[in-house]
Amino acid sequence: MHHELILILDFGSQYTQLIARRVREQGVYCEIHPFHLSAEKITEKTPKGVILSGGPASVSDEDAPRVETGFYEKIRAPILGICYGMQMIAVDLGGRNEPAARREYGHAKAKILSGSTKLFNELPFELDVWMSHGDHVTELPAGFHKTATTGEHVTAMENHERGIYCVQFHPEVSHTPLGKEVLRNFLFNVCECKGDWTAAGFIKDEIEKIRATVGPDDQVVCGLSGGVDSTVAATMVHEAIGERQHCIFVNNGLLRYREFEDTLQVYKDNLHLNVTGVDASQEFYKALEGVADPEQKRKAIGAKFIDVFQAEADRIGDVKWLVQGTLYPDVIESVSLRGASVTIKTHHNVGGLPEKMNLKLIEPLRELFKDEVRVIGRDLGIPEMILERHPFPGPGLAVRILGDITPEKVELLQKADRIFIEELHSFGVYKDVWQAFAVLLPIQSVGVMGDYRTYEKTVALRAVTSTDGMTADWARLPNDFLAKVSSRITSEVRGVNRVVYDISSKPPSTIEWE
Ligand code: XMP
Repeated sequence: MHHELILILDFGSQYTQLIARRVREQGVYCEIHPFHLSAEKITEKTPKGVILSGGPASVSDEDAPRVETGFYEKIRAPILGICYGMQMIAVDLGGRNEPAARREYGHAKAKILSGSTKLFNELPFELDVWMSHGDHVTELPAGFHKTATTGEHVTAMENHERGIYCVQFHPEVSHTPLGKEVLRNFLFNVCECKGDWTAAGFIKDEIEKIRATVGPDDQVVCGLSGGVDSTVAATMVHEAIGERQHCIFVNNGLLRYREFEDTLQVYKDNLHLNVTGVDASQEFYKALEGVADPEQKRKAIGAKFIDVFQAEADRIGDVKWLVQGTLYPDVIESVSLRGASVTIKTHHNVGGLPEKMNLKLIEPLRELFKDEVRVIGRDLGIPEMILERHPFPGPGLAVRILGDITPEKVELLQKADRIFIEELHSFGVYKDVWQAFAVLLPIQSVGVMGDYRTYEKTVALRAVTSTDGMTADWARLPNDFLAKVSSRITSEVRGVNRVVYDISSKPPSTIEWE
């Protein structure tokens, strides 16, 4: 089925994905493309509307990102320009844009000048908005009129006949409380969308697509990790082709306490997947013997995973396809206006698997954001225990044991971590944090137990709040909670006499300790 489509052109704003999520939340499908997508390609996609994002550049910069010449004549769909998008439209159509004396960043009050504009339909005459810009529009292009101001500045303008609407503020961020309504007005009032994007509709379409793509006798393999993405992907493929999908769930010996056993049971008993559990813990421990460097750990685990997975897949026989839980943020061609980014940690631990095994990919989630995957997972009957699970890194506890890894250290960390997670659930705060876990430090310190002096290990507790893992703040967990976790760990986990709480944010720290 062909959905209504909103196209978002990305000019490098940190908020571009947020715009897309806000559009999807309204039941309208949208795609993000780099700003240089040609007008011809855009027109082929017959979008109901086009959004030009913000971005860090100034239109007057020599190498500023711009749309192609003639763009506004070729694109007939309505356009919404946000921040940089507005400034570029102003200049492109004959107006003026100038650097402000100082950067405007933060909360502002916008005065709406005309209640009759479709964009601000049914909104109050004063809006709390979020600004983040250096330049501003000083002269409107012909055919445009001001629709909102902040002080003496133009905050919104439009050319109603041509269907071009511009806002200087960011309607997509939560600091613009009524921003959602502004976007809603653009989608439904201006672009006349109906909102035909639903989880149930998506599942149905996708299942049909998988059936049509995979040949009637083809065998498919899928690696399960216990996380949301691979579970949802596998469940969709199972609905489409049943037992011809062979799932492999590898225990690398670095999972949380009982995670392998419990999740395998859910895969079999609740989701009825055709799954094989492979306990390869010892092989992984062997590959990790004496390895203390974080990147070396990641490499060793990634390589071992490919070996184990391939050996298991070979037993299935003639496999043609590999299911992967790739999400939309991994697919978007990112616009980097600040040069190539440097690798801080290699997060894609099993890259190269499809090439190595010569498999074609099935990626049922490649159009979705994480929050949409959860909604779809719920529709598919996947238990909350999996859907609400915190993100967990591929190398698992290996990057939470500082220094070399031994099965004894893994067991100790599993015990401490389990207490932390259990208490998060019983205090009802598990869902308030993005990720929480225990870390085993390679230091010993002096303590006292009964009449004895002890010299034992330290466990650090890490809990952060975040929306995407890119930045994070340490979670302000209640003191009573921390006291309970600390006292349980020191009394129940032999070998630990000290518990500390990590109060670092990202940046400058990262979420994981390695
Ligand atoms: P950092 O530690 O870089 O982590 O702030 C950001 C997010 O990525 C996860 N992470 C990983 N995930 N393989 C993964 O699959 C990895 O090697 C890896 N390292 C970090 C981390 O848990 C957090 O969610």
